[in-house]
Amino acid sequence: MSFRLGVLASGRGSNFLAILRSIEKGELDAELCILISDCEQAPALEIARQRSIPAKYIRYSKKDRQVFEREAAVQLENYACDFVILAGFMRLVTPWLIQRFSRRILNIHPSLLPAFKGLKAQAQALAYGVKISGCTVHIVNEELDGGPIIAQKAVEVRSDDTLESLSARILVEEHHLYPKAIRHYGEKLLKSQVMA
Ligand code: GRF
Repeated sequence: MSFRLGVLASGRGSNFLAILRSIEKGELDAELCILISDCEQAPALEIARQRSIPAKYIRYSKKDRQVFEREAAVQLENYACDFVILAGFMRLVTPWLIQRFSRRILNIHPSLLPAFKGLKAQAQALAYGVKISGCTVHIVNEELDGGPIIAQKAVEVRSDDTLESLSARILVEEHHLYPKAIRHYGEKLLKSQVMA
């Protein structure tokens, strides 16, 4: 079962690259149809261009978030994307886009949700003093980092961890978890639609 993926990313794009590599290795049967960024300088755009994946910058205005989302939706629908993959997309998604791609927008977050929602999750985990953190892939709903959980991976927090060392170990796990979670969830959802 092959999926068509559209990715939204604001920054360095390491999760995007991990998904791409997983597809190249034949572990994830999917096509990366388009990479959209709200940040013109995002390295993720460059990664896409180097691999000849359509890459589009769309200006984001906090005053009217839907200008970005309407344009993004047009692109995602033009490419017939089955799923919208948030990979370091640093904007809140509005109910409008969530309804338009109902149960088909996924996100990865660098903590074991529901702990440490929002920004700087790894720093929050260190400050709280938890001994285990990790990463979570979830369906995006209207609550920030609050949608149904698809997959999680725990990472031990060591007594000598710094923000950098913990973030780096969590990131390694993100790169394994996200492609697997997309495959499992995608197969489940598309099968249920075929059978409905
Ligand atoms: C990751 O830590 C992800 O969990 C969070 O934003 C970061 C994006 O990193 N949502 P990258 O752009 O995929 O390298």
